[in-house]
Amino acid sequence: MEKLLFFSQNCGKISEVQKLFKGLSINLISLKDLDIKNQPNETGKSFPENARIKSMFGYKHFNIPCFADDSGICVEALDWKPGVLSKNYLESFETNVDCLKNIINQVKQTGKKKALFKTSICLTLKENYHIVFEGKIEGEISSNIIGGGGFGYDPIFIPKGHNETFAEMSTYRKNLLSHRSIAISKLINFFS
Ligand code: IMP
Repeated sequence: MEKLLFFSQNCGKISEVQKLFKGLSINLISLKDLDIKNQPNETGKSFPENARIKSMFGYKHFNIPCFADDSGICVEALDWKPGVLSKNYLESFETNVDCLKNIINQVKQTGKKKALFKTSICLTLKENYHIVFEGKIEGEISSNIIGGGGFGYDPIFIPKGHNETFAEMSTYRKNLLSHRSIAISKLINFFS
């Protein structure tokens, strides 16, 4: 395979995924390396559906094998939402900090601390040929916003069995545990 496209412009995701592909004989590129004006509408009702919309779009647009990730957080105190609407939820607040504070307050009010991250990766190798790989990690919402690394909801998510948020961990450490790294490992196994 000459090139494999990761259909993402999210620097946080790209950095995690690039590190997981390091040392492999796969020429991984992302949307940061290409010129793209249009983005598909993520109208799916589930992570796999949205991942498939994006990977199919990338495959058709650039005519190279393509995979896309759709991820999100599910919070017990929010009835396990926002899930597939995680991006819209974050963007519905004036700042990310407002959103994270709001989640922490909901957790304090309800006493429900549990949360999980989910990822679906869809790989499109040819038209109408898609393979989906899933990853999930359980944990809880921290009582404060902690850590300067990562992105999105990382500063409030403490993976089960740990006492730091994802945002306090290096990419290397997050990659030993995360929902995305679980799904990407399955993708890499598929290629090998
Ligand atoms: P999407 O998969 O790009 O649609 O992302 C959905 C939302 O979930 C975005 O707001 C991301 O910031 C957030 N998100 C996805 N993966 C992670 C993660 O690994 N850590 C923190 N937030 C994430």
